Amino acid sequence: MKAALFEQFGAPLIIKDVPMPKVGDDQVLVKVGACGICYTDVKIWKGIGALNAPLPHVLGHEIAGTVSELGHDVRGVQKGERVLVYLYETCGKCNYCQTGRENECINRVGYIGSNRWGGYEEYVSIRSDNVIKIPDNLSFEDAAPLADAGLTPYHAIVDRAQVKAGETALLVGMGGLALTGLQVLKILGAKVIAVSRTQSKLDMAKELGADLIINTTKDDGVEAVKEFTDGYGVNHIFDFVGSAETVIRDAKYIRRSGKIFLLGYQPGDQMIPVQTVRGFLYMGGSNAGTREDLRELVRLASEGKLKSIVTKKYSLEQVNEALNLLAHGEVDGRLVLKF
Ligand SMILES: NC(=O)c1ccc[n+]([C@@H]2O[C@H](COP(=O)([O-])OP(=O)(O)OC[C@H]3O[C@@H](n4cnc5c(N)ncnc54)[C@H](OP(=O)(O)O)[C@@H]3O)[C@@H](O)[C@H]2O)c1
Ligand SMILES: [Zn+2]
Ligand SMILES: [Zn+2]
Repeated sequence: MKAALFEQFGAPLIIKDVPMPKVGDDQVLVKVGACGICYTDVKIWKGIGALNAPLPHVLGHEIAGTVSELGHDVRGVQKGERVLVYLYETCGKCNYCQTGRENECINRVGYIGSNRWGGYEEYVSIRSDNVIKIPDNLSFEDAAPLADAGLTPYHAIVDRAQVKAGETALLVGMGGLALTGLQVLKILGAKVIAVSRTQSKLDMAKELGADLIINTTKDDGVEAVKEFTDGYGVNHIFDFVGSAETVIRDAKYIRRSGKIFLLGYQPGDQMIPVQTVRGFLYMGGSNAGTREDLRELVRLASEGKLKSIVTKKYSLEQVNEALNLLAHGEVDGRLVLKF
């Protein structure tokens, strides 16, 4: 089977013939139908951001496809089933796993596309409790980004921040994750402000329902946010960049006792003067999401409540073109590999 792999960090991906993955007794084989390209892939590929993949490596953690083989002990999954792959292989036993917060599992063994080969190849094997059924009306291409570009903002917005109707939320860095987060916020009835540097990304945010857009290459938008929130500032910020520059600016947008969630993160140290951030209730991170979150996202997408953010599809052979566009910040929406 074909796989797009890299043998050195940052080197172009090469298409190679590799053996089919082995299917363990508790695993299923998934014939990949589509795989989304996440900015985290760029970090893993370049070897930055503390995600040390073993080399050679195959990227990809937004995988949708068809179950084509079952391990000996697998029950409850059928051959031919259309599925989405949950990205973490969790223990099922620790306190987090037992309380529906398996994204925080302390015994996590696998993170597909990071510490083991992912979906930039024709087949992946994965534990059977990692596949989630998707309905026929959801294409592999539209489903794939739900596995992370959907999952991560959904968990932060719904489970962590618990955003309520009528509250104001501000998103920073209108890429794949933020564009799905925006739609989740609108479903919840929040008023949404989108902040980015690229007008075409902001235009997409506007189309998907943003109430106010701010292009920071023109103006930091602090006055516009004040006006939009009657002088208070916003209740919640979801920052998909996580640089010192964006966090210091976030501190000007947030209301007293508001919450800032850092979903994006930058390699290296980001220096933030403590006096700029001392006034809020909460600032912290949020990491991926749960299987239950993913099921809910699949339901929302199949009911047409979440629109696709996929703007272009690439073949496996075109993978370098797609990955480089994302690395250079030139992607509006999400790119997917289509098999
Ligand atoms: N917490 C988690 O579990 C989790 C999961 C997945 C991904 N992530 C992280 O979330 C972030 C977003 O991922 P994504 O796939 O949505 O990326 P993306 O599609 O590249 O979108 C991020 C956007 O942020 C803006 N941006 C990027 N670098 C910036 C910088 N240095 N300063 C200001 N703005 C910048 C860019 O828009 P403009 O050019 O318009 O500003 C870019 O389009 C990444 O850092 C990724 O590693 C976190
Ligand atoms: Zn990702
Ligand atoms: Zn666990």
